[in-house]
Amino acid sequence: MFHAYRPADFPAVAAFARRQPEFEYLKAIIRMHEEARVRGARAVWRESNRVIAFCAVAFPNPRDAWLYGMRVDDRFKGQGIATRLTRALFGLARQAGRTWVALDTKDVASKAPVFRICDRLGMTHLATHATTMLWNSGLGFVRPRLEPAHGPWPHTGARLVMRQRFPLWIWERPAAGPRLSLLAGARVLVEYDVCPGRRWAVVNAFERPQDTRAFVRGLLGLAHGRRRGVVLVSPAAWQPALRRAARALVPGLVRGVDSSFDAWRIYGRRLK
Ligand SMILES: CC(C)(COP(=O)(O)OP(=O)(O)OC[C@H]1O[C@@H](n2cnc3c(N)ncnc32)[C@H](O)[C@@H]1OP(=O)(O)O)[C@@H](O)C(=O)NCCC(=O)NCCS
Repeated sequence: MFHAYRPADFPAVAAFARRQPEFEYLKAIIRMHEEARVRGARAVWRESNRVIAFCAVAFPNPRDAWLYGMRVDDRFKGQGIATRLTRALFGLARQAGRTWVALDTKDVASKAPVFRICDRLGMTHLATHATTMLWNSGLGFVRPRLEPAHGPWPHTGARLVMRQRFPLWIWERPAAGPRLSLLAGARVLVEYDVCPGRRWAVVNAFERPQDTRAFVRGLLGLAHGRRRGVVLVSPAAWQPALRRAARALVPGLVRGVDSSFDAWRIYGRRLK
């Protein structure tokens, strides 16, 4: 049965979730909602009064709902619990006046159950976006001048923007096209995620750069300084060239130490 999450549920959620990957991320989600830094709700699924699943939904703007942090106790997987909890969260989002619901999941084979749940619940695979993260490597790169970009909103498939609300990544559909800048001639949205002890540039790319190396040099310039980094969101197909350019500019990049290159599927659907 679907229930609102209460702080007293934490030990029961932690009992199964701490054995699964990304427990720190889950704790951060729970905490962000506790501190009311995120609008939305958290929910648990109970069977025989025992908590066996958790998931949260964020409302990044008045129209959109974003699901994240789904965890099902290993002993209850494959019984349709996540499907039912997701469907219940759709209902909650609808009641809260949201007209669109979405989620992201890493584009790896182990997430096949998530792909399947999305298909079953009528969600469309809207896009596969790559995140290219570079940190602790911007020293020596000049901070680029970001010229304002003009013209209509560029379309690269789905009209989605990734916003980083530390430590959460949320793809949303901005109501109006946000102000874009030119980075090495390509239109991008640059925002900053400021959190204690570090400052990240969050860059959504909407046009494939002509000169990938100049583009990555600019990205590294945005990440200039200690404890700084940049996360670039782009269509997944552009990532190999971006990675080659990053490796050429910063020899010795080590995945997980100063860089990461992942791809995410974004699924969404309208709520009627
Ligand atoms: C992903 C997760 C939430 C799914 O929970 P669940 O309760 O087992 O999911 P459900 O039983 O509702 O549905 C899973 C579906 O995937 C299918 N499935 C399972 N393994 C699969 C695989 N390897 N390939 C394809 N489909 C698969 C199941 O058959 C089921 O589909 P069906 O109902 O049509 O038979 C759970 O495995 C989990 O907690 N994983 C760890 C955390 C995680 O990855 N969370 C997702 C973050 S995006």
